[in-house]
Amino acid sequence: MKIIAGNWKMNGSRAALVEMQDALANIETENTVILCVPFVFIAASNNSVAIGAQDVSVHDHGAFTGEISANMLAGIGAKYVIVGHSERRMYHGETNEIVKQKASMALSAGLTPIICVGETMEERNSGKTMEIIELGVRESVPSNGGDVIVAYEPRWAIGAGITPSDEDIAAAHSLIAESLTKMGRGGTPILYGASVKGSNAKQIMSIPHVDGVLVGGASLKPDDFIPIITATK
Ligand code: PGA
Repeated sequence: MKIIAGNWKMNGSRAALVEMQDALANIETENTVILCVPFVFIAASNNSVAIGAQDVSVHDHGAFTGEISANMLAGIGAKYVIVGHSERRMYHGETNEIVKQKASMALSAGLTPIICVGETMEERNSGKTMEIIELGVRESVPSNGGDVIVAYEPRWAIGAGITPSDEDIAAAHSLIAESLTKMGRGGTPILYGASVKGSNAKQIMSIPHVDGVLVGGASLKPDDFIPIITATK
């Protein structure tokens, strides 16, 4: 059983969510399917598929205009929330410390955070991939609280149509698994994300310690997303 999580980013519509849910209702799979949609569509979910958000506030409540709290997300039916996606780190200056605070808020509201870590092209080129990943896990994942999911997202491969080699993915996932075990979080599911599509999903999910995938562009349309979900049983 794998975890297949879609990240719609700032795309889609209420009608597109209804269409996706209808399409997913007809497929047979033992995999866990999660759709992380823009905040405003969460309440339109019919709960036929687990729904998640893409960000959450570090605050509980109060004068934080435009922010959405973990309790608000849980209150409208979200079960998951992505934290520390590379686009949040890049465009909103989110650090490992902030990501950890967000993950802790999610946990205290009963949500499962999907905590993203991964290296930039610059970090990769300077041989820092493993260091960045290890630090990302150690500093972004809360050491206590409920279950979490970690996603390895090589930032240079997101939306780029390219993926690291199987060996590179295997090395990253094995390091993440080792780091999580050291933190007392052995067995935490680890997803791979960046340029996953129907044609590479099965191969990627056969790599050791790849417990599923986090899918951006290819999660927007049923014709692209369903082959990823059904690539493994
Ligand atoms: P992509 O995005 O699948 O479009 O590369 C992945 C992500 O950003 O989660």
